[in-house]
Amino acid sequence: MDFVRSDGASLDPFPHYDRMRESAPVFHDEQSGSWHVFRYDDVQRVLSEHGTFSSKMGGDDPSETGQLFAASLITADPPRHRQLRSLVTQAFTPKAVEALAPRISALTDELLDGIASKGSADLIDELAYPLPVIVIAELMGVPAADRDRFKHWSDVIVSQTQAGPRTADHSSTNREMTEYFLALIEHRRRQPGNDLISNLLMAEIEGQRLSVAELLGFCSLLLVAGNETTTNLIGNAVLSFTEAPGTMERLRAEPALLPQAIEEVLRYRSPVQSMYRVTAADTAVGDVRIPAGAPLVAWIGSANRDERQFRDPGQFDIGRTPNRHLAFGHGIHFCLGAPLARLEARIALQAVLDRFPGLALSPGAHLERMDSTIVYGVKELPVSWTT
Ligand code: HEM
Repeated sequence: MDFVRSDGASLDPFPHYDRMRESAPVFHDEQSGSWHVFRYDDVQRVLSEHGTFSSKMGGDDPSETGQLFAASLITADPPRHRQLRSLVTQAFTPKAVEALAPRISALTDELLDGIASKGSADLIDELAYPLPVIVIAELMGVPAADRDRFKHWSDVIVSQTQAGPRTADHSSTNREMTEYFLALIEHRRRQPGNDLISNLLMAEIEGQRLSVAELLGFCSLLLVAGNETTTNLIGNAVLSFTEAPGTMERLRAEPALLPQAIEEVLRYRSPVQSMYRVTAADTAVGDVRIPAGAPLVAWIGSANRDERQFRDPGQFDIGRTPNRHLAFGHGIHFCLGAPLARLEARIALQAVLDRFPGLALSPGAHLERMDSTIVYGVKELPVSWTT
């Protein structure tokens, strides 16, 4: 199978997707037993038809990460999914998130002040990673000083999504995360604050408080899952802007284009390339029959390059409209953090455009993809600018 070979995390998985959309749009990998879906219409259907394609998998996933996310909304089906999601939607509406803009701008400036005079830096390390972590840590009432630990945990979890044996590092990370969150939950129980965890502790669904497993699920999902993805949106944007000649000049001249350019990055270099489902009943995708209980991978990164949906999909075009990409999913599980991710990206990228004239990839920069076929982004992004 092409994309689970050891170099499966290639920075350019797109030719592989192109081939699969043509020759095997619904592919059964006999070795792993899983099914893979590559075309836009099919991916959209798999993501949104939750009655047929269930998100419930944590319970059957014996790995400790599976257990950590087992009671979270991303692995819940209705009606529990709706109940859990309703507890956090208020905190993540575009309006609620917009109120965070001044704080996100101040953080961005602080981070960039630290490197502006240097003329070169790894933008992942200095901006794209710390910004989303600090923002979510503040929302959740978690000490931002612990962010290096979150970084380590999310790196290990992301590498766990790569095919291959799990290591002792994975087990100890999952244990460490659980212990950390349990202590945090206990602390907030005794000393509630004005933060998401305290709110979740008070929340009730039909008169019932959330279970500890559900609280843990929220912590893991918000603190880890949302971070690495936003890091990669910012990183992939800088990469794409520096690659396409004239893009940065155009964005500087027409700042109103930036939101649209960010949507194009989401399509062209989707930070999440694939999502899992499991079939709840016998079904068919296209003319391929799939039995009940089959694990299935919906390739978002391929759907977003489908020529049936997008004209010149291999072209990075910041003027593209419409742009109905599936980077944040589709249907009831549509990314809760999308307004926050978009806002952080807009503020961070505007600041980079304003403050770093002549921004370019550092000469001889070697770009390496993160160790995952699911999450898409580079490990380091060395750039330089004129000071
Ligand atoms: C769900 C992508 C940022 C929290 C999802 C899904 C995708 C996604 C594809 C759908 C999962 C599915 O269908 O099974 C992204 C991308 C991001 C991003 C590309 C950044 C560019 C964030 C942030 C947060 C977040 C910043 C939190 C603050 C969530 C949650 C869900 C989710 C809680 C589950 C929603 C549900 O199951 O109802 N995300 N995400 N995400 N995302 Fe994001």
